Amino acid sequence: MKKYIFGNWKMYLDHKESIDLANVLSKKIKKNDTYEVAVFPSLLSFLEVSTKLNNKVNIGAQNCAWVSKGAYTGEVSAHILADVGCKYVLVGHSERRHIFGETNELVRKKLEAVLDAGLIPVLCIGETQADRDEDKIQYRLKKQLMKALEGIDINAENIIFAYEPVWAIGTGTPCLPADADDIHGWLKLEIKNYIKGEAKILYGGSVNVDNATSYLDYEMIDGLLVGGASVKSDDFLKILDIEYKK
Ligand code: 13P
Repeated sequence: MKKYIFGNWKMYLDHKESIDLANVLSKKIKKNDTYEVAVFPSLLSFLEVSTKLNNKVNIGAQNCAWVSKGAYTGEVSAHILADVGCKYVLVGHSERRHIFGETNELVRKKLEAVLDAGLIPVLCIGETQADRDEDKIQYRLKKQLMKALEGIDINAENIIFAYEPVWAIGTGTPCLPADADDIHGWLKLEIKNYIKGEAKILYGGSVNVDNATSYLDYEMIDGLLVGGASVKSDDFLKILDIEYKK
């Protein structure tokens, strides 16, 4: 089964650094049956990165508006993204939820906007350390899923999920692969309440060159959503099993 390796560049790179990284990736990555690769650059660099990648690597957006058009200063809609070759959009990333105060309700609206534009949402869910301490992992994940998906009519091919425990993001303390596999297994059953078919779920949170393969070896883990390690060309390529020397 093809696994998904997605790189969320967050706001780590300036324009030139984004183009340089896209250049390296487009030279080294070939379309293959092992991995579906996508990167999520900053919106400013989106078009130029997309041109450099030249369809060898898919491209996604880190965020979008919940409406398609109109007087929404500073926003970019999923329809606009669809026009410029975007394939995926992250929805409900923990940084959007926790730094920008995005509620489950807003996440639902964005999810619908992405689907309406014909793009594939990558719905991110994850519990906080406090949830974990209070034994509320399943409670939190169930709630995020229910609020995002209840009443939706959607097939598994049209959505990807990312399990990203908040306490593991950017901390250097990843969720152990066996624990992530257990949670993914439980999530896949839970998600069956809402969508048709078997959900694809990526793991994200402190993935690096050393631990990436241990996740990919697990059956319930359909791929990785990599943050910090995805903006270092040699690390990202090593995660993809491509040797690269500068
Ligand atoms: P890190 O890999 O830097 O922990 O970030 C994970 C993430 O948030 C990907 O969306």
